[in-house]
Amino acid sequence: MRPHLPLISSHQGGRSALTCRFRCGDACFHEAPNTSGNPYFGEVLAGALSRRAVLGTAAVVTLASAAGASVLPAPEARAAGGGSGHGTRPGDGAKGLRFTPVPPNTADRVTVPPGYRQNIVIRWGEPILRGAPAFDAERQSARAQARQFGYNNDFLSLLPLERERGVAARRQILVANHEYTDEVLMFRGYDPDAPTREQVEIAWAAHGLSVVVVEEDRGTGALTPVPRHALNRRLTATSEFLLTGPAAGSELLRTSADRTGSRVRGTLNNCAGGTTPWGTTLHGEENFNQYFAHASSATDRRYGIGTGASERKWERFDPRFDVSREPNEPHRFGWVVELDPYDPDFTPRKRTALGRFKHEAAQPRLTADGRAVVYMGDDEKFDYLYKFVSSRRMRAGGGRAARAHNRTLLDEGTLYVAKLTGDSPAAEIDGSGKPPADGEFDGSGTWVPLATGDTSHVPGMSAEEVYVFTRLAGDRVGATKMDRPEDVEPSPRTGRVYVALTNNTDRGASGKAPADEANPRAANKHGHVLELAEYGDDPAAEGFAWRLFLVAGDPEDPATYFAGFPKERVSPVSCPDNVAFDPHGNLWISTDGARLGSHDGLFGVATAGERRGELKQFLTMPKGAETCGPVIQERRVLVAVQHPGEVDGASVEKPASVWPDGEGRVVRPSVVAVWREDGGAIGV
Ligand code: FEO
Ligand code: CA
Ligand code: CA
Repeated sequence: MRPHLPLISSHQGGRSALTCRFRCGDACFHEAPNTSGNPYFGEVLAGALSRRAVLGTAAVVTLASAAGASVLPAPEARAAGGGSGHGTRPGDGAKGLRFTPVPPNTADRVTVPPGYRQNIVIRWGEPILRGAPAFDAERQSARAQARQFGYNNDFLSLLPLERERGVAARRQILVANHEYTDEVLMFRGYDPDAPTREQVEIAWAAHGLSVVVVEEDRGTGALTPVPRHALNRRLTATSEFLLTGPAAGSELLRTSADRTGSRVRGTLNNCAGGTTPWGTTLHGEENFNQYFAHASSATDRRYGIGTGASERKWERFDPRFDVSREPNEPHRFGWVVELDPYDPDFTPRKRTALGRFKHEAAQPRLTADGRAVVYMGDDEKFDYLYKFVSSRRMRAGGGRAARAHNRTLLDEGTLYVAKLTGDSPAAEIDGSGKPPADGEFDGSGTWVPLATGDTSHVPGMSAEEVYVFTRLAGDRVGATKMDRPEDVEPSPRTGRVYVALTNNTDRGASGKAPADEANPRAANKHGHVLELAEYGDDPAAEGFAWRLFLVAGDPEDPATYFAGFPKERVSPVSCPDNVAFDPHGNLWISTDGARLGSHDGLFGVATAGERRGELKQFLTMPKGAETCGPVIQERRVLVAVQHPGEVDGASVEKPASVWPDGEGRVVRPSVVAVWREDGGAIGV
């Protein structure tokens, strides 16, 4: 019998008010900034005639000719027996998911399946660079923090380190994002109305990215940092970054401190990211709007930048955060950052060709001829799904010339936004989550080109405007308003692409876009996962077929769907956020703001075969924490425990969580490694 926890009332999306305040700048409590009257496809009647009206005749021909070969085939046959839900034997399940599921729970720890072990890889404040002192919560300094692991680890990447003989096989490079800071949980006596310069400068140093070499203990899956390694690196809110690509140098990017429009101090709100086939990492700058104060322009409003003071009051200490004084400074954030973890001298790049929005992540793949394709979500209610296709091809080999070439791939290509059309009559999508008469939420889609290099494809906007104000370009071409697109991940096995749509409680509200076939639930509080297949299996295709893979929530809720897998044999899941694939082709989903009476968790789900849709919870988080950055290796699962203890009313003096170090110690966001105690492969 699946344990059932009662539903609890909670903050928007299940998050604490503290999370909303510090992470998103209370995004849920402001009007969703997409107030464009752009058509959503609930208004678009299914059928060739109406498609002709919307897309034009040429597009209809393209879709029709492609449809026969590319409509997503029906899911394969269901498992005939052998329950694999809660409380069943670990041997059950798809390969890679054979573990006993962790039941929903509210324990203040990382809970893993029986037979698995864990260690804290690295905590906020641990020294990683030369000269860094040991962490001391009572004696923090900006100078120390700039040499220590940052706050609120989010995206994680593990890259092989092959060049060091002897220990090489046991060492990897860990790259981590530090999305934002929780000042009330960092500083004793923090006064949000009167932050001190030192507190602000510590926060600047606690943002950004970390590169730290980690070493595997012999005989276990435990990882520990290698302090002072030559590749270790910190990048913060004040480090140097270059703007590159077609909008670099634009007047829209110039400030009084940078007349070139190409050199930026810092990166902010790095949420999720991706690892490129050429050995670099990508980092999405997400809710950058919250750091800026006193905005007034319509373009700033479209990005949610406020008219008043900012939450953290940084504008008191650096005028560039005051938009009334430095109107172009916010244009220099909201990009995808590319970092080369193998080259400590490489100044990271903000790639303008990938557009400016609240970048959740950036997940690359290659076309058959070696061009780079990057999928990207804009994490805001009613915002859009994007992809970029490079014009040049990746060069193989790790030589200096190949690396230099590959590090320019993301500067030239075409940026697209997605428009999705359902194949069922709009009247059958009633907002309840009840499937339409054809039994599926599914349809086709087009990638609408926005700009290629210096050429704009959007009437009334120049190319540089398309890149800097990409949300407005999406509005103009009628992109589909989605339920907060978060991570987007192509399966390395099947090529199908999975889009986590975390939730949208405003869907169907008065004056807002109603439910449509790709976002079929009104007041969608649990989110869903969309699966798409590019036409012709070509990642650069301009059209795709799609269907909903998961409609999240309590499996006992009739408005949930698990790719047709028997619902009594899956774990409850809510608010899918970051996603990753394991070596077996299973999709792993981390959650943010789960509303089912359990702490957030990490889940694996089979995407193919008889077990397709079988979803099992692998671990749960401490109190207040969000699951981030999953990396699923053959023998190790790595997760970022982000904002533990972030609960309304909590502070250093009144902690809500004692993770990871127990009573009397400050709560610290940390990275956790999990492995099988018998040394075997995960879930096999
Ligand atoms: Fe930073 Fe969309 O999560
Ligand atoms: Ca349908
Ligand atoms: Ca996220």
